[in-house]
Amino acid sequence: MPFVKFAMASLAVLSLSACGQSDGASTRSGQAGTTVTSGQADIGGAFSLVNQDGERVSEEALIGKPHLIYFGFTYCPDVCPTALQKMGQAQNLLGEQGDDIGYVLISVDPERDTAETLSQYVEANGFPEGLQGYTGTPDEISAVKAAYKVYATKVPTPDSAAEYTVDHSDIMYLMGEDGKFVDFFYGRSTPAEMSARVKALLETGA
Ligand code: NI
Repeated sequence: MPFVKFAMASLAVLSLSACGQSDGASTRSGQAGTTVTSGQADIGGAFSLVNQDGERVSEEALIGKPHLIYFGFTYCPDVCPTALQKMGQAQNLLGEQGDDIGYVLISVDPERDTAETLSQYVEANGFPEGLQGYTGTPDEISAVKAAYKVYATKVPTPDSAAEYTVDHSDIMYLMGEDGKFVDFFYGRSTPAEMSARVKALLETGA
């Protein structure tokens, strides 16, 4: 499948850039993002999904303030909860400025993540206050994954009651108030790095 190859290639670029950012002991947050932006501006775009209240949402929902967006799923045992808790810690570190951005989880498991499932999940302790959960049909999720260059694929787990898990990229996007890509964070990014980057965006517009 050409799309999967393309997505993986893009992620490889992102991951390499991210490692450069993390491994430099004195690297300031944002430097790597600037580099990535120049070559990776084509992240994001149109989508049609439903939120945790069952309401239809599009890319318009991301216009007007910056957003942190994470792609994951509610059955994920550790990676997704960890990322969303870090998102919550970043919100706390931002204080009142934390209200000036939106927080979104987009499911990569549309078969199990119904709006109702998400409505409970987004309330989990430690997740950002006001976290929105988006899901959709498998086709709609495939489309938004393609738009955001996200890799996620079902992996059967015959020995577990869950039947399958979803391998997925562990990447969080920071999108600007115009809905366009600004920067990204990944597994080793800290809440302090994330909140500092968001603060810079809110205060400088870039
Ligand atoms: Ni996960």
